[in-house]
Amino acid sequence: MSRTLILLGPPGAGKGTQAQRLVDRHGFVQLSTGDMLRAAVASGSDLGKQAKEIMESGELMPDDIMIRIISDRLDRPDTAKGAILDGFPRTVPQAEALDRLLAGKGRRLDWVVVMDVDDAVLVRRLSGRYSCARCGAGYHDEFVKPKTAGVCDVCGANEFRRRPDDRPDVVANRLKAYHEQTAPILPYYRARGVLKSVDGMAGVDAVAKQIEDVISGS
Ligand code: AP5
Repeated sequence: MSRTLILLGPPGAGKGTQAQRLVDRHGFVQLSTGDMLRAAVASGSDLGKQAKEIMESGELMPDDIMIRIISDRLDRPDTAKGAILDGFPRTVPQAEALDRLLAGKGRRLDWVVVMDVDDAVLVRRLSGRYSCARCGAGYHDEFVKPKTAGVCDVCGANEFRRRPDDRPDVVANRLKAYHEQTAPILPYYRARGVLKSVDGMAGVDAVAKQIEDVISGS
């Protein structure tokens, strides 16, 4: 049966960073709803126009749209080995819908991992985040620098970009949305005994080790 891992945590907790490690190590596919919406914005589609406005305000997209997107994505054959949900579910109705979707698709929910990080650290992480404009590799002004300044380690490009929703006023709204609408998911999964917390304040390698321990059941 296909494995499913949910990575939960506030904006900047390191979900995307850790998902990439899991892709490299286990061959799971990363299903980042944020990346899907940013692709829609770049395409200029109607969905993208709606997403641009909502994402740049730090609010959440409507549940029904996000549930339909993730349902369609889970049907693609590349998820057979395992899927990492990064950014979904984000509300209790999304979590409830995911249970129904997984059951209907003959998949099970294997792991739910929440990365705990203080708000002050999140603000620092998001304000310093940037990525390669060509291949998307992620960096940080202080914590994850390219080996050669100004040159992407992965593809050698020398153009980088920052996300418009990493502006301080938008970050404040994203954190508010997390605490008010996403954090209530935690008791939902805790009550089912599937939730594992990891210390997201640790370094990238140390967080990866904690997640590996959850996956291996140790
Ligand atoms: P999304 O793209 O999902 O953003 P997010 O959840 O706010 O998460 P981020 O991608 O900002 O952070 P991350 O946890 O992946 O951290 P990262 O690894 O990059 O969503 C964007 C928007 O889309 C939402 O606001 C909403 O509008 C909409 N949306 C998406 N899904 C939705 C849904 N299901 N329903 C409704 N709306 C939805 O790390 C951050 C930085 O820290 C990086 O620079 C990294 O290098 C660094 N770093 C990472 N780990 C560490 C570490 N351990 N130590 C030091 N630095 C670290």
